[in-house]
Amino acid sequence: MKFQSIVLLIVVMWASTAMNQAIQPESGSSVDVNDLHVIDIANFAVTEYSKGTITRYVSKLKLDKVIKGESQELAGGINYHLIVSASRRYQRIHNYEAVVLEKPSEHFKNLTSFKLVYA
Ligand SMILES: *[C@@H]1O[C@H](CO)[C@@H](O)[C@H](O)[C@H]1NC(C)=O
Repeated sequence: MKFQSIVLLIVVMWASTAMNQAIQPESGSSVDVNDLHVIDIANFAVTEYSKGTITRYVSKLKLDKVIKGESQELAGGINYHLIVSASRRYQRIHNYEAVVLEKPSEHFKNLTSFKLVYA
């Protein structure tokens, strides 16, 4: 390979790395808690979590609101990391930490984790 080609290659690689960093921050970007899509994701998380419990005797968890969250674009989709408040009927509101993976092109959503947050 000629010297000029090597220099060009290095410049191109450096430029694309710099651009990727600008577009995709490592930590994810914060979401708008009033965004209807974000609320949809939060409702999905709470509903999915409720399915895993004995709902016949224990009332279902119901979303109160999205407190804060981040979304991060991955190769296969978008990972949502949300802090939501939710409660069961006649019970106190608690905060939960939910992680949902969404693949919009496949209309796929999966609840990866759902945990009570002790505040
Ligand atoms: C959803 O996420 C859980 C927890 O990470 C995993 O065990 C499960 O296989 C996933 N389901 C699908 C359909 O990807």
